[in-house]
Amino acid sequence: MGMFRTLRAVVRLRRPERDRTARRLRAAANVDDLRNLARRRLPAGVFDYIDGAAEDELALARNTEAFRAVTFRPRVLQGLGSLDPSTTLLGRPLAFPLVLAPTGFTRIADPAGELAVVRAAGRAGIPFTLSTMGTRSIEECAAVAGPGARLWFQVYAWRDRDLIRRLVDRAAAAGFEALCLTVDTAVLGRRERDIRRGLTLPPEIGPGTFLDGIRRPGWTWRFLRSEPIRFANVEGLTDGKGGPGDGRRAVDLAGYMNAQFDHGLSWDDVGWLRSIWNGPVLVKGIQSVADARLAVEHGVEGVVLSNHGGRQLDSAPAPFDLVPEVVTAVGGRIEVVCDGGVRRGSDIVKAVAAGATATMGGRLFLYALAAAGEAGVDHVLKLLRLGTERTMALVGAASVGDLGPALLDTKGSSDR
Ligand code: FNR
Ligand code: LAC
Repeated sequence: MGMFRTLRAVVRLRRPERDRTARRLRAAANVDDLRNLARRRLPAGVFDYIDGAAEDELALARNTEAFRAVTFRPRVLQGLGSLDPSTTLLGRPLAFPLVLAPTGFTRIADPAGELAVVRAAGRAGIPFTLSTMGTRSIEECAAVAGPGARLWFQVYAWRDRDLIRRLVDRAAAAGFEALCLTVDTAVLGRRERDIRRGLTLPPEIGPGTFLDGIRRPGWTWRFLRSEPIRFANVEGLTDGKGGPGDGRRAVDLAGYMNAQFDHGLSWDDVGWLRSIWNGPVLVKGIQSVADARLAVEHGVEGVVLSNHGGRQLDSAPAPFDLVPEVVTAVGGRIEVVCDGGVRRGSDIVKAVAAGATATMGGRLFLYALAAAGEAGVDHVLKLLRLGTERTMALVGAASVGDLGPALLDTKGSSDR
């Protein structure tokens, strides 16, 4: 007893956190912690769809490694006043240099899916990009977006051009700001984790996945209780009626996408998309200087340097490594966004110092969504914003205007 009293006197007991989500998040110090939480909460097949990448997952590893290989040349005694990580992208303000990437099937991470991510992005002051393969529709996303929220729509090249036109018209009517045409998906990359598990989308709770479901009762309960997962943007266009299929019947992703999307897409189609949309167009999946130049010639407003998070061509260059050359080649005429491998605020600072206007990231918010729903997405966006500010302070930059190549030491990366 005496000892207990003594302990009480010297140890201030922290009040136990009653809210389980808040408790989980308090211990999640970075994206990797959120990934571990996601791994524990999702059925293995669902986690692997999100976490995995093509073939040997070389590009996936290279995307993060590219950031890690570069050190800063920090400056000190810069007389920093207040720190401001904000910037502008496509002529509009961005609270810090991050855009949320389009991800298909977001509701497999959490039933709220894209709606949770739209709301969190709006609160954080950054754009959200809805995937063509999204599981909440253009209209549903627009309905929950607060005033000033920025929504982009990602376009896949359906063989049915009329379907693209209808989607683009719906995005315009719903107040979406920009289109993002993904061009690195001529065919779907070979995601071998998904092949081994026989993944279908939406996931089927069948004999093969039953055990997986039992091991994750929380996810399974939420999944079964919420309305069925559909490819919400093509809802009702069922395969029986000549439509592409809206997920009412589970599909194998590679089969579906290879059948529905046009491998013959060319720069002429970029011009066509331009002609049916009265706003900015970004081309996502640019992986060479030559193509970045062509993007300028074809009059788009931006390129997203991307290898689809390592999910397509496995021996693809890391987007971060392409930034300096591409920025030099396009000479400020269009926006350059660096997508893939962003896990920390310091990655965002490095990309901007190398010359990108902003970064884009997918898994960072998917892990967070799976770990703790909407609160998880708020949490990760706060971690990334604070990480950006802290890194800026530590390298001696008060604003993004102070970030430049002089702050980076790329020596270590040249022999990779
Ligand atoms: C994606 N990505 C993607 N891209 C796209 O243009 N349309 C899509 O539907 C999808 N779907 C998708 C699903 C999942 C589960 C992931 C992880 C990724 C690619 C995405 O937009 C982005 O390029 C990568 O996520 C960037 O890499 P990081 O940030 O995940 O490392
Ligand atoms: C993916 C598709 C949906 O990367 O783009 O899984």
